[in-house]
Amino acid sequence: MTNYLLEITYIIASVLFILGLKGLSHPESARRGMHLAEIGMLLAVIGTLLGQGIVTWEWILIGLVVGSAIGTAMSIFMPMTAMPQRIALSHAFGALAAVLVGINEFIVKGHEITSGLMGALGFEVLFGSLTVTGSLMAFGKLQGIVKSVPMTYKGQNFVNISLFFITVGMFIFLIFFPQNSIVFGTMIALSFLIGIFIVLPIGGADMPVVLSLMNSYAGLAAAATGFAINNKVLIIAGSLDGSSGFILSIIMSKAMNRSFANVLFGAVGTPQVDTSSLHEDRPITRFNVEDAKFALEQAERVVIVPGYGMAVAQAQYAVRELSDELEKRGIKVEFAIHPVAGRMPGHMNVLLAEANVSYDQLLEMEIINPTMDTVDVCIVIGANDVVNPAARTDKGSPIYGMPIIDVDKAKTVIVMKRSMATGFAGIENPLFYQENTKMLFGDAKNVLQQLVAEFKKN
Ligand code: TAP
Repeated sequence: MTNYLLEITYIIASVLFILGLKGLSHPESARRGMHLAEIGMLLAVIGTLLGQGIVTWEWILIGLVVGSAIGTAMSIFMPMTAMPQRIALSHAFGALAAVLVGINEFIVKGHEITSGLMGALGFEVLFGSLTVTGSLMAFGKLQGIVKSVPMTYKGQNFVNISLFFITVGMFIFLIFFPQNSIVFGTMIALSFLIGIFIVLPIGGADMPVVLSLMNSYAGLAAAATGFAINNKVLIIAGSLDGSSGFILSIIMSKAMNRSFANVLFGAVGTPQVDTSSLHEDRPITRFNVEDAKFALEQAERVVIVPGYGMAVAQAQYAVRELSDELEKRGIKVEFAIHPVAGRMPGHMNVLLAEANVSYDQLLEMEIINPTMDTVDVCIVIGANDVVNPAARTDKGSPIYGMPIIDVDKAKTVIVMKRSMATGFAGIENPLFYQENTKMLFGDAKNVLQQLVAEFKKN
């Protein structure tokens, strides 16, 4: 492939990446966006393979088979509820690739390494290495291999910041003395350590923000790789990845009402209280399926708020059926989606789309909240933290200030969950004890199927 053709292929691939990202900004166009980005990636890979004699075909084939086998196994065996862990692993793999390319360049170029090249290489291995261990730590915390509570000790910020500045100091040294392999190796080792240290003090509840930040770092490392090996499509794709990951981190911090710095420095300044063992003595009101059906039949407007429990129960199809039954009876049904409901960005949207719930029915928190007091019945399906009014009213609550869906303002709230257990943040939810709240206990899918069966009787 001539250079001219390669450049054109890269430009088309880059345009497809941008269109792909644009598509991801709305659930309706997200699938198309993914396909466009996939075609872009295919073009970029084919172009690179035909255009640059980097490695022999045997190695490419081996890489292809091993990578496809791991990817296929992960997509088949990892459940949707473990998607954040899968994403963490992907970031670790991507960043490891960047680090290996960087080390390889350092070895191959040897004495030819210039200060300019070291600028790109150093950035690549520094960000790449801390992303590898940071993502693996995030994986460990999400999977329960590492304690998900923030792990802190005295002087932690000082240690982390000092380590970071020492590493950056080595990077600057390398720009002046680019062939020093001892400093290069030590910088990589310290970067691996930084990745572990910066995630240690961050609690499980902030892991989604950490993941998108790692996504951003992996993208920056890839862009630097592009500069190091003079590959333009890598520069563009890495920059897009780096900036979109960064923007997503900020959006998610806002959704959890955490300042970015607060998330980055984890538990420091925001001790997270585990109140999971505290259960209030106040009485609750229980509903059975018949009670729920009766309340719903009287309603004109119903809002469904899904959460992590809907994903665990795989109740999305039953939810859709219930929505259909209600609409058949002339009842208006809407879905209120919290940006961090579930365990990954867009978790609820993906599940509801899978069950063919119309996009028009999905409303974001900011749109639905001002009208919440006009809702006749609000059905909370396996959501807990994202509907916890303590975030609005209790200054002492660890989630105080996090925006929530104001389901407590609806005329009647039906909460479907299995027990009085807490959600992800491990804190008590006063919603369950409100006068207008009715607890309908059971597995969400099971209860919804019974409810739908009741409606189908007449
Ligand atoms: P959670 O607060 O985690 O609550 C989920 C509730 O679902 C639990 O209280 C649980 O109660 C119930 N549940 C579990 N299995 C169920 C089943 N089979 N049937 C019925 N109910 C079931 O969920 P949420 O309200 O969606 O909030 C999400 C939380 O995760 C937030 O704290 C958020 O910050 C955090 N987080 C979010 C993300 C992203 S990006 N979305 C990533 C990581 C963490 P029972 O055990 O009593 O049934």
